Amino acid sequence: MKWRTIKFLLPAAGLALFLLPASALADQETAQSARQEAVRTDPWFVPEEETNRPNPVTPDEDSIERGKEEFKKYCVTCHGRFARGDGLFAERMLTRPPDLTTVINGRTDGNLAWKISRGQGSMPGWHKILRQDDIWNIVNYLRAINVKAD
Ligand code: HEC
Repeated sequence: MKWRTIKFLLPAAGLALFLLPASALADQETAQSARQEAVRTDPWFVPEEETNRPNPVTPDEDSIERGKEEFKKYCVTCHGRFARGDGLFAERMLTRPPDLTTVINGRTDGNLAWKISRGQGSMPGWHKILRQDDIWNIVNYLRAINVKAD
């Protein structure tokens, strides 16, 4: 190979080396956001009887306070201190935890209690850790801090 050709090719090779990892990263990001989108649009399956299950715990001050304490203990790491979906781990999760102050609009208490109890994907199920009453207390707390979207 002539020196002139090599001189011409060297910067091109350098450029390729520089660009390759960047484009591989961009591909990864696209794949990740596509996956995120797929999980996000995948509806939770909640059995109808659970959606229709009435909340047996009156949302009084005690219940809301207790729900707040339990939420602080088990949920803030992902959902954030004020349930806005900005917890410590939220950034690094494949599925971002939703903002619970708005997403729960239009959902029944039974629907939420079932989701908290069973979990899905990166959202753990809590039925082995929390008492059923405390799951309802948390639902009452979330209702109390819920900002109506409409
Ligand atoms: C490890 C992180 C993590 C923890 C801890 C966590 N969650 Fe979640 N949560 C998620 C993610 C991620 C989703 C979204 C899951 C999905 O859409 O597939 C979610 C979804 C939810 C939903 C469903 C919202 C909807 O769309 O109707 C509720 C309710 C909820 N979480 C409540 C809680 C409560 C209450 C706790 C504590 C007892 C808790 N979460 C703890 C990550 C977490």
